[in-house]
Amino acid sequence: MFSYLSRSNLQLCLAWICVLCYSQASKEQNTSTYFLYNENSTDTKHVDPCLPMHVHISFGSNVLDITVLWATLKDCPGKVKFGIHPWGLESTVNSMNIYFDEQNREGLHYLHKVELKGLQPDTTYFYIPMSDQMQSGPFYFKTPKADSDWSADFLMFGDLGIYSDTVPSLVTEALSGKYTALFHVGDFAYDMKNEGGRVGDYFFDLIEPAAASIPYMTCPGNHEIDLESFAHYRHRFAMPGSKWPLPMNKMWYSIDIGLVHFVSYSSEVFFTHNGKYVNEQKDWLIRDLDKANNNRHKVPWIVVFGHRPLYCSTNIGDDCSHSDSRVREGLEDVFYKLSVDIVIQGHEHNYERLWPLYKHKVLAHSYIDPPAPVQLISGAAGSVENVDHFPMKVKPEWSAFRLDTQAINSYGRMLVVNESHVFWEQRSIQNHLTLDSIWIVKSRNQTQVSSTTSKPGLSEEAKTLLSEMCNRSFVRCHRVLILSLCGGVFLLVAVSLAVRVAVRKKRKENFAKTWSQLPEEIDSDDEIGGNRGM
Ligand SMILES: *[C@@H]1O[C@H](CO)[C@@H](O)[C@H](O)[C@H]1NC(C)=O
Ligand SMILES: *[C@@H]1O[C@H](CO)[C@@H](O)[C@H](O)[C@H]1NC(C)=O
Ligand SMILES: *[C@@H]1O[C@H](CO)[C@@H](O)[C@H](O)[C@H]1NC(C)=O
Ligand SMILES: *[C@@H]1O[C@H](CO)[C@@H](O)[C@H](O)[C@H]1NC(C)=O
Ligand SMILES: *[C@@H]1O[C@H](CO)[C@@H](O)[C@H](O)[C@H]1NC(C)=O
Ligand SMILES: [Fe+2]
Repeated sequence: MFSYLSRSNLQLCLAWICVLCYSQASKEQNTSTYFLYNENSTDTKHVDPCLPMHVHISFGSNVLDITVLWATLKDCPGKVKFGIHPWGLESTVNSMNIYFDEQNREGLHYLHKVELKGLQPDTTYFYIPMSDQMQSGPFYFKTPKADSDWSADFLMFGDLGIYSDTVPSLVTEALSGKYTALFHVGDFAYDMKNEGGRVGDYFFDLIEPAAASIPYMTCPGNHEIDLESFAHYRHRFAMPGSKWPLPMNKMWYSIDIGLVHFVSYSSEVFFTHNGKYVNEQKDWLIRDLDKANNNRHKVPWIVVFGHRPLYCSTNIGDDCSHSDSRVREGLEDVFYKLSVDIVIQGHEHNYERLWPLYKHKVLAHSYIDPPAPVQLISGAAGSVENVDHFPMKVKPEWSAFRLDTQAINSYGRMLVVNESHVFWEQRSIQNHLTLDSIWIVKSRNQTQVSSTTSKPGLSEEAKTLLSEMCNRSFVRCHRVLILSLCGGVFLLVAVSLAVRVAVRKKRKENFAKTWSQLPEEIDSDDEIGGNRGM
């Protein structure tokens, strides 16, 4: 009895062990460990290899196109289901997937991007990113109104990082429903590439609640250089008007949001690749700003943002405090001559507001019809690096207002009220108290402004800058002309070829016809001849 039982039981037992081992083994294969990065902990999270993580959105080529990005542990095809009713997301768009391991040994390697195009204005959309059968969310976002005639609120700051306890409060602010977009002016995680990319992963975990709900618009900072590869920045973000991953020679873009033409530029071109991309960006900026100036009647404000400032009164040896600052020498003329209204910057871990100035000279002590761009530095969102202090005694005339220690853990808010009024304030993160605020007012009518204002005339200045650019590179300056010339020549060749072919065909036909008619004619000749003969 015992031996019988034990024999069959043993077999059963072995079978069970096999099944258990197999299921355990396949489980091992399928659940993956995801490390939550923190310098003091080895916390891990077990997640499905296809779970969409780090979900964030940005505007596409216009405000009715939304781009969704996420990451997964393993290679899983992706899609986004979306719609205007949370129950029953009727539309589906498949994702473009890339493998990302450059300076990302330990981070998530599989990135997914979906473009939701031609959305309805002023509408809340619900969406679910899915990889295989795994989904996260649902998330939601609201598209802006269709016309440009509406007020919009924007969150703007630079220099955040993962150690600051400001993130939850910033996320709460972002989710208040007030804001049309969030602008992060460089320096994201200090650095995304650190710990083999796990610092980047951790940052995207933290920022997801905000960045999945309002468009998260960016520009690169010095902490995104990644040994001159900008690997994490170029892969983890997709921005308007550039391929994805973002190419090295197009890490800048512009987009119209309501009453504002926003331009994102890279201050890092001046510090990388021996300045190889400086002129390419400058030429693009001149063209873009010139176009924007001609569109002022529709989009009256031009706001540009980039990481390192043109000026700063911080005295820690940064480029902005040098008399021959690369960023200032590279961009001040462009911004001034092409009548940029506002420049938002970071990098200095403090807050500073400047009087409208050009070449170190203050042009006005007010922001009513400012005769030069209004420059703001809001780099105090909570970086792990220390506060950048202002020297106590020295305060340049152009520095209108500045806070160092007191500004730590604060962010900027830009309320674009209408075509003539913008309200800017710097607010503390903990209680959202206002630390500084100004009204920027344009009392003159934009469409008539160019000749009467104290600002230099738009087109003439643009023309000079454009001709400088043409002198530098004829090919780049006349790209359109050259392309259309080439197109014209091609068309001409094609047409002449077509004509030749047609003529030949016709000739051949005529020839054949002549041949086929020939015997008849001969016959008739014969007949005639015959007749003649008769
Ligand atoms: C593991 O994943 C594979 C393919 O993704 C699937 O076919 C298999 O059933 C999974 N195994 C378990 C135990 O979930
Ligand atoms: C890690 O530990 C050190 C020393 O105990 C502490 O100063 C630091 O704040 C900790 N970091 C985090 C992220 O908790
Ligand atoms: C713009 O907004 C300001 C501030 O609210 C207001 O005083 C002004 O009248 C508005 N202008 C127009 C043209 O609506
Ligand atoms: C500005 O001028 C344009 C054209 O002259 C006009 O259509 C527009 O209504 C004016 N705007 C204001 C606020 O006066
Ligand atoms: C461009 O080059 C021409 C001829 O070489 C020169 O006359 C002109 O001043 C230059 N323009 C600028 C803006 O440098
Ligand atoms: Fe920086």
